[in-house]
Amino acid sequence: MAGFLQTLNYTSSNEDGRSELRALRLTEKDTVVCITGSGSRTLDLLTAGPGRIFSVDMNCCQSFLMELKIAAIRNLSYDECMRFLGVLQDSRRPAIYRGLRTHLSNGARAYWDGMLPAIARGILYQGRWERYFYRLAASLRLTRGGLLDALFGAADIEHQYALFLKGWDSSFWRGFIRCISPKVVWKFALGDPGFSRYVPRGFSVSGFLLDRFGVSFRTRLLRESPFMNLLLQGRYPSDVSLPLHLQRRQYRLIRERLDRITVVTARLDEFLQMMRPRTVDAFSLSDIGSYTSSEQYEQVWAAVASAGASGARFCERQFLVKRPLPDIVATTVRRDWNLECALEAADDSTFYSFVVGILTGGAQWN
Ligand SMILES: C[S@@+](CC[C@H](N)C(=O)[O-])C[C@H]1O[C@@H](n2cnc3c(N)ncnc32)[C@H](O)[C@@H]1O
Repeated sequence: MAGFLQTLNYTSSNEDGRSELRALRLTEKDTVVCITGSGSRTLDLLTAGPGRIFSVDMNCCQSFLMELKIAAIRNLSYDECMRFLGVLQDSRRPAIYRGLRTHLSNGARAYWDGMLPAIARGILYQGRWERYFYRLAASLRLTRGGLLDALFGAADIEHQYALFLKGWDSSFWRGFIRCISPKVVWKFALGDPGFSRYVPRGFSVSGFLLDRFGVSFRTRLLRESPFMNLLLQGRYPSDVSLPLHLQRRQYRLIRERLDRITVVTARLDEFLQMMRPRTVDAFSLSDIGSYTSSEQYEQVWAAVASAGASGARFCERQFLVKRPLPDIVATTVRRDWNLECALEAADDSTFYSFVVGILTGGAQWN
């Protein structure tokens, strides 16, 4: 895990923050704690105008990325920012960075001064996750480019799913998914412990992935899906495929509220233990369970239960590691099973199930 926590792992958005917005129902008076990752969920949540967001990650590279995105949005026009991040082409990114670096902390400036080649390529696609899936998308384009274009050009979902059933969902596709699914491949080709470390023995990753891909091809128009564009095309080719926080209509709103974000590098449980009890109104935990042992997972939830106000909302994602909530919080949470199912069906990033509900402050509501 140590090496993983010293590299830039997520830079774009592999989680659909609209699910968190539905689950957390944020208001101006809310204090939110959100796992940073690529920073996409933090910026998506800002569109709802919470009073304060603590954006927490134990990997300082993710925190430095959050700082850089904040500096870019604060100091650049929408089009300049899209060019700087890499959504649009631009050869002047290092020069733009020289104008932004004065707005960064010493740690972030030292980090990004050493990452100029990645900045020149457009930081949005330079995460370990993004570069890995870009290579997978390139190999699919090489072998099935024509069909990929037909799928992303489909007239409607019915036409798209017919193309999937007749053409895409073949032994080649299933073989491709089986090839990328073994733990050893995630471990050494991607190097992200969230895909392997705590995945239970006997869990069919290829079966799970094929099933979830099938759901996506059957239920959402690929060309309008930010996540499927990222996964199968390796980038966001058009405005309609942009995640919430990168959309032009959200830009001014997000910029006006950037001061509400506090970027923190720390383990979540340790950070929450420093918070005054019962002061946090909402928690966006991403799929933290993919990176924590059962003991650490219990510590995280104990800290959430202590820092959370009565009635505080929480939203956790679960990818390949499906964890039951620790017994220690069983009497202090009320889960919203219906909303969990609704989010799993609607979430654009397809591969997650949800743990959603409120803290009851100890009252037995189950
Ligand atoms: C699943 S990733 C989130 C990435 C997400 N997919 C995105 O694009 O934003 C989980 C993030 O949580 C961070 N993380 C995992 N366990 C943590 C913990 N106990 N405390 C703080 N951060 C943690 C990791 O460093 C990683 O950046």
